Amino acid sequence: MPRKDLLLRVEGLEKRFGGIVAVSDYTLSLGENELMGLIGPNGAGKTTVFNMLSGILKPSRGRIFLNGEEITSFSPSQTAKAGIARTFQNIRLFKDLSVLDNIKVAFHMHQGRNLFHTLCHTKKFCRTEEKIDREARGFGQMMGLGDLLDEPAKNLPYGDQRRMEIARALAARPKVLLLDEPAAGMNHQETADLMEIIRKIHSDYSMSILVVEHDMHMVMNLCRRIQVLNQGRLLAQGTPGEIQESPEVIKAYLGAPKEKTDAEC
Ligand SMILES: Nc1ncnc2c1ncn2[C@@H]1O[C@H](COP(=O)(O)OP(=O)(O)OP(=O)(O)O)[C@@H](O)[C@H]1O
Ligand SMILES: [Mg+2]
Repeated sequence: MPRKDLLLRVEGLEKRFGGIVAVSDYTLSLGENELMGLIGPNGAGKTTVFNMLSGILKPSRGRIFLNGEEITSFSPSQTAKAGIARTFQNIRLFKDLSVLDNIKVAFHMHQGRNLFHTLCHTKKFCRTEEKIDREARGFGQMMGLGDLLDEPAKNLPYGDQRRMEIARALAARPKVLLLDEPAAGMNHQETADLMEIIRKIHSDYSMSILVVEHDMHMVMNLCRRIQVLNQGRLLAQGTPGEIQESPEVIKAYLGAPKEKTDAEC
């Protein structure tokens, strides 16, 4: 029986692409208001896990539960409605829309609109539009995009586009936020700022966050618990300290230690 005190519970998840086993026997227990890291070398299966958790890929095996409800075969929009939002490793944005409209898209997808109210621009529609506008501006400002809300998204530098994606994911009011390499392409200062923003999201919205990231400094300083994937399998999980000292993890990242040659002895 799935445990209800866990927000997101994953059992024995597997994904095969033809003969390739991209993810095998992946398990996850994510509690309410947890901030957890998922790391691993390139090709380890991290994005594939996110694609299964967000309904983009159907698992070949295994089960996913959110708040005790099975969501394994949910579509991406059903998964989003159930409460899982994500950002993408390769940014997805509506290039010609403004930053504000890019964020608003999430509200519209999340709330589902009544056709009568939308077409007739009823009072209810106008009130809702005002509320959406106010909240979208709030999320944009929170992500440091306050001065850029009217800019076409395509004009934004890469780091700002990444922040816009997070604002859009937040606007869907998720219970679980999945961030796939949020700091990719950011410089040191931008990454430090992003860490603060993620901490703030986590504390202000009491949201559970699972973050995939190659920036070890960021993961180790942000997350209480970390999972390590290697070649599709969970290699280790634990606190940042435990992960940094794990011989298996060190080996996976750095390769097997070289045998000492006679000359070195
Ligand atoms: N749609 C697909 N079709 C076939 N193989 C795929 C597909 N998606 C991923 N793979 C393969 O699955 C494995 C895991 O890929 P995945 O993108 O999940 O890794 P990752 O851990 O996110 O890597 P990175 O750190 O480089 O983003 C890789 O061998 C990849 O080539
Ligand atoms: Mg990836």
